[in-house]
Amino acid sequence: MKRVGVIGTGNMGGALLQRAAQIGKMKGWSFTAYDIEKERLQEVCQSCGATPAQSNRALVEACDTIVLAVKPQVYKDVMKEVAEELKDKTLISVMAGVSLSSLKETGGGSCRLARIMPNLPALIGQGALACAWGEGWSEEEKSEVLEMLSAMGTVVELPESLMDAVTGLSGSGPAYLFLFVEALSDAGVRAGIPRDTAYKLALQTVIGSAQFLKEKGLHPALAKEMVTSPGGTTIAGLHVMESYGLKGIIMDAVVAATERSRELGG
Ligand SMILES: NC(=O)c1ccc[n+]([C@@H]2O[C@H](COP(=O)([O-])OP(=O)(O)OC[C@H]3O[C@@H](n4cnc5c(N)ncnc54)[C@H](OP(=O)(O)O)[C@@H]3O)[C@@H](O)[C@H]2O)c1
Repeated sequence: MKRVGVIGTGNMGGALLQRAAQIGKMKGWSFTAYDIEKERLQEVCQSCGATPAQSNRALVEACDTIVLAVKPQVYKDVMKEVAEELKDKTLISVMAGVSLSSLKETGGGSCRLARIMPNLPALIGQGALACAWGEGWSEEEKSEVLEMLSAMGTVVELPESLMDAVTGLSGSGPAYLFLFVEALSDAGVRAGIPRDTAYKLALQTVIGSAQFLKEKGLHPALAKEMVTSPGGTTIAGLHVMESYGLKGIIMDAVVAATERSRELGG
């Protein structure tokens, strides 16, 4: 992987370009980008030293690895535009709900394909990403792509059949956590803490607890045991959560989001 091109420099494409360019510069990779929104294209390219292309087709001609980061509604037009140039190249799609077989049918039949599902924190390099490979990848080529993607966060490799479940878990997951932080803040206000202070405490509790699990490599059940003393305050709070079946609610939510992803993907 030497010449990387990003089609669509919006939220996801722009973030990937900016983050991957930092890793890529040291490895001698070059970056090209294209977006129909010219101002955005110039801005993103200037910020990371990428070259703006004149068109999607010109980008594909100039690159060997192409990241497709447009909305699913417009990808068929893009594929039509670039299909002839894709032969023997690599196409990595970040589009939610677009299968490898759809990419193949719409013009990606002569190139190597992969599909990734990032989530919102990828924009700050803290994403949870899943990658599903199409046919014809060598281990070396895979590890180069994984290295590039690691600029956006933690990457796991999974069969494509699990991409809807990934969408339900980590794709939709940030919203679940946002709701939890909001609820914890409201709870603080209900208990008499000023709102801005309650929010500060709630947010840091979530960040700190997640970081703690990661740094200590602890299973959450064990970490929970560490902070629940017999007859104490935390077990009293947990008892209420378990009485309402919080775990079951979260599991049902992920299953519902997974099913919805399946429906939308057709
Ligand atoms: N954002 C997320 O958290 C997230 C998470 C998982 C997956 N994704 C996937 O990532 C993809 C991009 O999402 P996003 O949030 O980054 O969208 P976005 O901010 O709208 O970025 C897409 C960019 O592509 C441009 N574009 C539209 N048509 C084009 C064309 N024919 N050729 C070149 N560029 C074109 C858009 O310009 P205009 O604005 O002028 O249309 C926009 O600048 C989507 O497929 C989405 O499913 C996003």
